[in-house]
Amino acid sequence: MIDVLFLPKPISQNDTCVIVDVLRATSTIVTALANGAKCVIPVKTISQARGKKRENTLICGERGGIRPRGFDLGNSPKEYFDVKDKEIILTTTNGTKAISMVNSQILYAACFLNLHAVVDQLKNHKDVTVICSGQEGKVTYEDVLCAGAIVHELCRNDLTDAARISKELWSRSKNKNLSKLLMKSNHAQELVKYGFSSDISFCSQVDLYNIVPSFVKDRFIIE
Ligand code: MLT
Repeated sequence: MIDVLFLPKPISQNDTCVIVDVLRATSTIVTALANGAKCVIPVKTISQARGKKRENTLICGERGGIRPRGFDLGNSPKEYFDVKDKEIILTTTNGTKAISMVNSQILYAACFLNLHAVVDQLKNHKDVTVICSGQEGKVTYEDVLCAGAIVHELCRNDLTDAARISKELWSRSKNKNLSKLLMKSNHAQELVKYGFSSDISFCSQVDLYNIVPSFVKDRFIIE
């Protein structure tokens, strides 16, 4: 069965889970690993992130979209092109919080940037739950759309209603300009206000990277 959670909740199961935060945490995780970061370690709080500062680590993330004081990088995926061999410690308002709620045997990070790599990875998984990170408890258009793209591309009939709803959203949108669609979302509009409008077009690129971040112990890596 394929399920989609429009909002994260504590989840403990043997199924395969996929976390989605298009704007911008999973887009950042995928970009960092695609550019050679050793791993991305998601943490919940700013002080947990600061406490992990060591040689070869970068303390990264945002609160309210903005890089916290003393952090090496913010949460714009475009800041993650020069991170080869670095350990990235990442804390974000919604994405890393959603990740911390998942306790499953298998957890992948997905966004539009690695859409078909994730779909290929999921082909042989029977039960899959796609978890949308949302924004401060509110459903976000971009995450449901990306979940719908994953469900659509998996071409399966064993869908929950939530999976069907997201798939139908994607089916209605798939030939349209993705960047323009995402730009209309509430979260994109906030990012524009903070000067991150180019992140929306960056995060709208389908299949820029052919990698699937996999969560092992406490970190995302490429296996
Ligand atoms: C989050 O995880 O809350 C988002 O990635 C926020 C952001 O756009 O930086």
